[in-house]
Amino acid sequence: MSFDRSIKIAPSILSADFADFGREIRAIEDQGADWVHVDVMDGHFVPNLTFGPPAVKAFRPHVKTVMDVHLMIAPVDPYIDAFAEAGADILTAHVEAGPHIHRTLQAIRAAGMKAGVALNPGTPAESVAHLLDLTDLICVMTVNPGFGGQKFIDLTDKVRSLRAMIGDRPVHIEIDGGVTPDTAPLVARAGADVLVAGSAVFKGGSADNAAPYGDNIRAIREAAELATGQFA
Ligand code: DX5
Ligand code: ZN
Repeated sequence: MSFDRSIKIAPSILSADFADFGREIRAIEDQGADWVHVDVMDGHFVPNLTFGPPAVKAFRPHVKTVMDVHLMIAPVDPYIDAFAEAGADILTAHVEAGPHIHRTLQAIRAAGMKAGVALNPGTPAESVAHLLDLTDLICVMTVNPGFGGQKFIDLTDKVRSLRAMIGDRPVHIEIDGGVTPDTAPLVARAGADVLVAGSAVFKGGSADNAAPYGDNIRAIREAAELATGQFA
């Protein structure tokens, strides 16, 4: 995985057909997804349950791009090796998931993955100030985690602060929650490069009728690229 700040669209399979993950993953990649975002929830850190390492391992052969695994679980450390074995490329843990996020990020890298750190909407940018050299991605949650289809919370000031803190470091800023063609320009202009979108990508389509996924991905990408002057 080489680093760049071009806009990347990462559909969240939380909005896919749960009985058909393999075909859904192939459909979004065929339709232009840059990464595949996988939301792991434990019914404890967030009030919802999704899937664990065996499911993530089953997704792996279908993902040709980058498997971006977002852990909304606590604790994290006992599961790091299992997600490495499942084939995660990026493993993101929440700064709020426990007292030792610094150690967690070190352990994720030691297990051979890129390390991400996620911030809930109420958590300030400064909470990651001492983690910048240990992380490859900062995920700014623009909804309270747990469910797809929620309303975007405007945290562009936090994104701008993080972008300034990161400086020249090869650290992605990812936005997760309520991303649409209307909200993508706000966060892209503030410095985000990875846009997670669940409902806004999967709406109107299916694995059998995947063209709407492509239209939806293009609409988000073009809105973000226009806002940052990257649109060619
Ligand atoms: C929320 C998840 C998100 C979610 C986004 O807890 O982390 O990845 O799927 O869904 P939308 O794009 O519908 O807000
Ligand atoms: Zn997510």
